[in-house]
This record gives sequence, C-alpha cells and structure tokens, in this order.
Amino acid sequence: MSSMPFDALACPLDGCPLTPSDNTWRCENGHSFDVARQGYIHLLPVQKKRSLDPGDSKEMVAARQRFLGAGFYEKIADAVSEQALRSLPGDARGSVLDAGSGEGYYLRHLTGSAGDRNLATIGVDISKWAVLAAAKKDKQTRWVVGSNANLPVMPESLDLVLCLFGFPVYSEFSRVLKSGGQVLQVDAGADHLRELRQIIYPELKPAGDNGASVPEGFRQLSSTVLRFPMTLPDRNSIADLLAMTPHLYRATSEGLAKAAELESLDLTVDLVFKRLEKT
Ligand SMILES: C[S@@+](CC[C@H](N)C(=O)[O-])C[C@H]1O[C@@H](n2cnc3c(N)ncnc32)[C@H](O)[C@@H]1O
Ligand SMILES: [Zn+2]
Repeated sequence: MSSMPFDALACPLDGCPLTPSDNTWRCENGHSFDVARQGYIHLLPVQKKRSLDPGDSKEMVAARQRFLGAGFYEKIADAVSEQALRSLPGDARGSVLDAGSGEGYYLRHLTGSAGDRNLATIGVDISKWAVLAAAKKDKQTRWVVGSNANLPVMPESLDLVLCLFGFPVYSEFSRVLKSGGQVLQVDAGADHLRELRQIIYPELKPAGDNGASVPEGFRQLSSTVLRFPMTLPDRNSIADLLAMTPHLYRATSEGLAKAAELESLDLTVDLVFKRLEKT
C-alpha cells in the first residue's frame, strides 16, 4: 500500500507548522491539538465555528454512508479517481486534499485505485460526524475537522484539491496548492436528480450558471459531463438520497409525502467535472 496520511498540517490559529508527538500536534506558539481516539484531529477553533455542530448532521452522514456504501454512486467515484490520478505527478508522491470530504467515500476509492502510485492524502470536513465516520473506516488518510475557509495545511503543500458536491473557497485552494497544482471540482448539472426534484418541488428552478466563470488565480483545463441513469429500488434508498442532500429541508411537505409513497425511482445523474490549474 503506497498511500499515507498527509502531514504538512498548519495551526488553524496562526498558520505555523504543526508537529506531532505523543498523539498531540503542536505549533511553536504553544497551541496543541489532540488526536481523537478514532484517529482524527480537530483543527476547527471554537472561535471560528459558526454553530455548535456545523456541517452535515449525524443523520445526514449516516444516510450518505448507507447510500454510497450501496454503490449507487460508484461510477462517480471511478470517474473522480481516474481524473484525479491523471492530474497527479506520475513519479513523485502526489498529495491530495479532499475539501468537504464527507464520510470519506471518494478518498477511500482514490487510495484504493492508486495501485503503485505514491499518495499522501488528507480529508477535511467541518462536520465532526463526517470526519469521525471517515476515520473509523480508513487509517491511510489524515482526517481533520476543519473548514475550507481556513484549511489547516501549509501553503503550497498540495498537488490536488478535490471539491466534490462541496463549497469551494478558491483563495484557500490557491494558497495550499503548489504552483501548477490542480482543483478537481464536481457539481450537479441542470438535470441532476431531475425526476426527484419534480416530485418534491412545486416547480423546478431554472439551472444556475454552474460556475461558468473561471475563478481568479486559476485556468480551466477541462469541463466534462458525466451522465447516467440510476434506479433506486426501494423506499430506504430514496429516503437516504433525500436525507443526504439539502432537498430534505427545502422540499415542501406535500412533496416529501409524495416521495415517501414511492416504491422505486428512476433518476438521471448529471454532473459537471471541472479541472482547474493554479496559474
Ligand atoms: C454535499 S456534502 C458532500 C460530501 C462529500 N464530498 C461527498 O460527495 O460525499 C458537503 C460536505 O461539506 C461539508 N461542509 C460544509 N461546509 C464546509 C466548510 N466550510 N468546510 C468544510 N466542509 C464543509 C459538510 O459537512 C458535508 O460533509
Ligand atoms: Zn499555533
């Protein structure tokens, strides 16, 4: 196995390098962060938390774990791993950060598909529940509770940042990437889960611009579409898909009642994959 946890961590309070000893990471200014029993590190300072329990809830994380574990999004993971490995240096160790890594599904798939490639990987998510679930399953990756707005890693320390159905903060991505490093971003396209949205909303909102403009500090290398049909075969998988997305909170109660009646559901998966290079 050639994947190992990424270790160029930075103190979230002052940006100084963190060094580990005895299950604690410390910076030169005396800030210290303990490694939790499950192996993750909490690097989200209380003063930077916007709520007591930020990010996805325990229930959302559990629903996403069941849904992804059932393999419904395996084609997406295959495409992410394939594009990620293509954008990493072939010879040297490639360092990858997943920004908003959820319960770690895509990083696990990436390290599992890396073959003899050398990777150093880190997953950052603001949800303690997501990071806890990820750390329990996988010891090859560094799992960190932290924010994309203040990534607890050293400048220019990464070859690739993944941002999958997430909340990109390009200024931070640019700071942590090496020169020529890349972002691989995956977002919902206009038709993503259209059939479900037609059931739970009174009318479909027009598609957004899907980030057509290229963020400052980057140039776009490619933009590709991944589209495929998917059948959810039972009530549980439909309920899990709803629970792992913001749709559960946004849908009308009539819409949710209609969705709860469904025995199965044929859906379109429609995603946009973008690769950006730091200029
Ligand atoms: C839609 S989920 C996607 C999770 C994962 N990338 C996946 O596709 O399975 C979005 C994730 O972003 C996390 N999140 C929300 N705000 C964040 C922030 N400011 N920094 C890091 N993660 C954040 C949530 O806790 C949640 O796990
Ligand atoms: Zn410090």
